[in-house]
Formats: sequence, C-alpha cells, structure tokens
Amino acid sequence: MNEHDTLRALAKAANRIKNTSLSELFTADSKRMEKFAVSLAGMYADFSRQKLDGEILEQLLKYAEQRSVPEFIKKMAGGEIVNSSENLPANHMSARQKNNKSAKLIREFVTNLHQGIITGFGGRRISHIVHIGIGGSELGSRLVYDALKRSRDPSVKVRFVSNIDAACISDALSGLDPASTLVFVVSKSFSTAETISNAKIARDWLNQHLGGNAYTKQMYAITANSEEALGFGIDPEKTLSFENGIGGRFSLWSTVGLSLAASLGNTGWQQLLAGAEVMDQHLLQTPLQDNLPVLSALISFWNLNFLKMPARAIVPYAQRLSLLPLWLQQLVMESNGKSVTNTGKSAELLAAPVVFGDAGTNAQHAFFQALHQAPNPVPVDFIGVVKDSENYPGQAKSLLANLLAQSIALMNGKQNSQNTQTNFPGDRPSTTILLDELNPFNLGCLLAYYEHETVILAHLCHINPFDQWGVELGKKLAVQMQNRLDGSASTQYDMATEAMLKHIIRRHDQ
Ligand code: F6P
Repeated sequence: MNEHDTLRALAKAANRIKNTSLSELFTADSKRMEKFAVSLAGMYADFSRQKLDGEILEQLLKYAEQRSVPEFIKKMAGGEIVNSSENLPANHMSARQKNNKSAKLIREFVTNLHQGIITGFGGRRISHIVHIGIGGSELGSRLVYDALKRSRDPSVKVRFVSNIDAACISDALSGLDPASTLVFVVSKSFSTAETISNAKIARDWLNQHLGGNAYTKQMYAITANSEEALGFGIDPEKTLSFENGIGGRFSLWSTVGLSLAASLGNTGWQQLLAGAEVMDQHLLQTPLQDNLPVLSALISFWNLNFLKMPARAIVPYAQRLSLLPLWLQQLVMESNGKSVTNTGKSAELLAAPVVFGDAGTNAQHAFFQALHQAPNPVPVDFIGVVKDSENYPGQAKSLLANLLAQSIALMNGKQNSQNTQTNFPGDRPSTTILLDELNPFNLGCLLAYYEHETVILAHLCHINPFDQWGVELGKKLAVQMQNRLDGSASTQYDMATEAMLKHIIRRHDQ
C-alpha cells in the first residue's frame, strides 16, 4: 500500500463514518480515551471529540509513516534544509536552547537592563520599551506579553506598534518619557514598509525630544539583516541579530522576543523556552500514535481533506489568551495557505483551514450560534486553564463550566421535533486542551505544540510551510498606489479602483 492507496482508503472511511455520530463513537469504544487523550507536562489534550475511530486513526498514522514524518522532524530539528524555495533550514527549535547565540544575547541584555547598566538619556532608568514590528515580528511577543501579565516585572512595560495606521504609533508614544524609553525595531528583513515607516517616526521622536542623534543611544535593531539596520543608522552594537534560518512567524524564541524577555526577566523567559523545549523533545522522541503535535496535525488533515471542513475556530477560555487565535491565524494561514507543493506541482491536499476565534465566553455571544446550528460544522479548539491565578474562584469555575458545556453541546446536540428552530444537530467535532495554569512554561509548551502541528500538517500535504510568496504582490502594488496617491505616478487602474481613487481624492480635499 502506498500513500495514494491510503488516501483512497481514508476517503472511503470518511463516507463510512458519516453515518455514525460522535456520541455513537463514544458508546462503541469504551477505550476511546486511551487512544485520544494525551498528557504532557502541564498540558492535557483530548482529541476524543474529533470525528474518527480507531481504524481511521490507524490509517492516518500509516499515512504519516508513508510521508516519513519522523524523518522529516529529525531533518528539521537537525538544521537541514527544509525550506526548499529559499534554501534555508528552519531553526526555531535550536533557538530555544540555552547555549544558542540568540539566547546568550538576550540573557546579557536582560541582566544589564535590570541591573541599570543599560540606561536611557542622562542615565535614566528604562521604564518602557516600544516594540515596533509586524506579523511574526510582533504577534507572538504581544500574545505572550498579554498572556503572562502575572509573571511580568512591572518596572519595564512594553508597548507594541505594528500597523502603518498612525493611530498605532501615536498611541504607543503618547505619554512616554523619551529619556527612559528604548525603541526596538524588530524586522527580520529590516525592509517591511510598516515597520520602517513607524521606526522613522520613533527615530524623529527621540531626536526631537532628546536632541541631536539621540536615537543612536536608545534605538535597537532586532533583525537577520544587519546591513539594512546599519543603513538605517542603528549603532551596530545595538543590533541584536538572529539567523536567517528562523522564519518570521516562528521567531518569537530568538532575539525577536527581547522585549518580552525584558519584561519577564531571565527566569520567566527561560521557563517559556523550557516549556517549548519539552514539546520539542516530545515531538522528537514520542511514537506517532502518542505524539501530540502529530495527532493534532493528522486530525486537521482529516477534517480538512476528508470531512471537508475548511475552517477552524480557536477559543481560549482565558481572557489573557485572547490573542492566541490571531497568532495562530498567521502561523497556520501564512505557513500553509498554498496551492503549489514544495516541488512546484499543483497541490491536491488542503493544509490551511480558515482560522478564526476569540476568547470564551465572549465568543459564545458572537459566533457560537453558527457553530451550533449553521449547516457547515466548524471544528473547535477549546483551550482551558485549570488553576486560575485571579482571586475570584467562582468566576474561574464558571469559565471551565462553560468550556465543558460547549463541547458537550456541540457533540451531542439536542433534538426538538416540535420546534425545529431549537434543534441542535450536534455531531460537531472539537479538541480540548487544558493547561494546569497559565505560566511561562505551559505557554511555551502550547505555542510549540501549535508550531509543530502546523509544520507537520504542511508536510502531510507536500507543502513548504516556511515561505510566504503570497504576501509579495499586494506589497508591490501598495508601493505603486502610494506613488499614485502622492501624485508622483500616473499609473491607471481598473474602473473600480479609479472610481475609488476619485472618491478618496474628492473627499480628502473637501
Ligand atoms: O506578512 C509577511 C511577512 O513577511 C511575515 O512573514 C513576517 O512575519 C512579517 O511580514 C514581518 O516581516 P519582517 O520581520 O521582515 O519585518
């Protein structure tokens, strides 16, 4: 049996399982939890409410073997070229190791900052860091900063600037004392339009308030392109580089996480990395059938390609994790949203669901109506925290109760033949992940789990998850369009664009 035979067998199995409901799968197999629930360190993952049985799992595992998933994982971890279109390795796993160059730079910087060796203008203690970056150069840091509010050192606060919308940088700089603020320009390429534009505003802000070229003392570059940073005028001693072999959306663990490390302190930062490393070791050493990211990737592969469910909702029942869906959206959709395989052929398998979500219970009052009753089932990832660190135990129990209730409601539904509008069809799949508590270690573990899942899902579908050619065209067009808006170019566009340009120019000048 080869890969294609297994795919055919899986398609047949999808037809077969259509007629068996999730609740029937539970009744049919008293050992279901043994196959579909896995614990690792502070994390418990329950895949039992996904619509597959033991036989289908066997077939999926066989497919993973045929796709040489263990060999691929070893290749990636060993620093071999896995990003074929850019001829690069994917070194995010090694960035998490203590003796890595990035890790050393971070340790030294954080120590010097907290000991007051790194200071602002006139020896002022640093109270704020403005982190300028976008996409992978910001989302992960902002997510973890929010999530770990309880673990932060309150003496150093971070403000994030991503969008080219001036509202972003205005809000970030508002009320700050420039003399006690460091500005981090975080960009792998050091050429992303939004980041460079915001960095110029921050550079002027430092100079205007502190005089001369004050920015050279308080502006840092975090990049894989030191030359560009030098061209921008950043002191090479203030350039903390990371390697080109770390993809933007996987780069949180490198010097990209510097502002976060400054806020968490070395101990918290190390715990975050240690949690991720535990997931790395689990990935490398655990047989496929008990391997958390592999199981999760196989289930996504199954849902997308055989049960034909092209979306995925991410619902953390933890307000502090409300940015998780956004981070995962970039990770999954930028990595895997491709229709060409890593050998340039037309891709036959889907690797990227449409990812969306919000924190529960808020999400229950927004899109859950559709999750329960719309004709197109959407698999949900529920993420819960067992031990809450706030001081209101009643609220914490309600949160968990809601999480558990929703996954039951989605699975079992409720029939009402009298009033079909109140009918809940049920049979809607979900995964539940429970973290013992929301601390740096467990969060590191969770994020690495999703990173690995995404990469393995891509590999199952013959996709290279480490490039992102699809973002280039729009960037180029935006530059041309800006020239047209500035009046420095006269490029003509289609009818609709011309009408909007006319509207914008007319309204703008009124
Ligand atoms: O949106 C495309 C992208 O290249 C992402 O992959 C990346 O995370 C982001 O832009 C920022 O890129 P850079 O770190 O080079 O500024």
